[in-house]
Amino acid sequence: MKKYNVIYADPAWDVKKIKRKVRPNQVEFDYPTMKLEDIKALKVKDITEDNCVLFLWTTHAYLPKAFEVMEAWGFKYQRTITWDKNNGMCLFGFHHRTEFLLFGYKGKIEMYPKRKAFPTMVSAKSEFHSQKPQIFRDLIAPFGDKKLEMFARIVPEGWDVWGNEVESSVTL
Ligand SMILES: C[S@@+](CC[C@H](N)C(=O)[O-])C[C@H]1O[C@@H](n2cnc3c(N)ncnc32)[C@H](O)[C@@H]1O
Repeated sequence: MKKYNVIYADPAWDVKKIKRKVRPNQVEFDYPTMKLEDIKALKVKDITEDNCVLFLWTTHAYLPKAFEVMEAWGFKYQRTITWDKNNGMCLFGFHHRTEFLLFGYKGKIEMYPKRKAFPTMVSAKSEFHSQKPQIFRDLIAPFGDKKLEMFARIVPEGWDVWGNEVESSVTL
């Protein structure tokens, strides 16, 4: 089975729909979601090399669950990268303009890598609901040569993919 040294994942968290009175203009979520236990049960351990990094997207509400997923997939948490979307919705007294990309690893990671430092804050606009900007793939790409994007919607050059909107390179 093919193994990877970079996993980039944007899980379809089981987000509850917000009542229309609170947010009347919300469009329906345009993809099915997964239960936490099903996300944790994905056999990521079977497709990772001994040394591997994980970049895992999460939101304010799903931060604690993302830590559970990271552990279930066999990774140790190391850093949080904050994405400033420059926009986002106002809800319950907060303007939600940030999401989080958790960085974890298994095995060894380079302490002083030659690649450009990954900023812990990235400001970038997104064009569509739930779409993450390309800049994140560009920043992640130098971390390894066997890269898998999970919950992918497109097939980026140089990446294998897994998800229900693409022809998956692996079975999980
Ligand atoms: C948050 S979106 C990913 C967005 C993507 N990162 C982007 O930048 O456009 C989650 C994706 O997971 C997919 N998905 C939902 N349930 C799935 C399942 N059981 N197996 C595989 N993919 C699933 C959704 O259809 C959707 O494409």
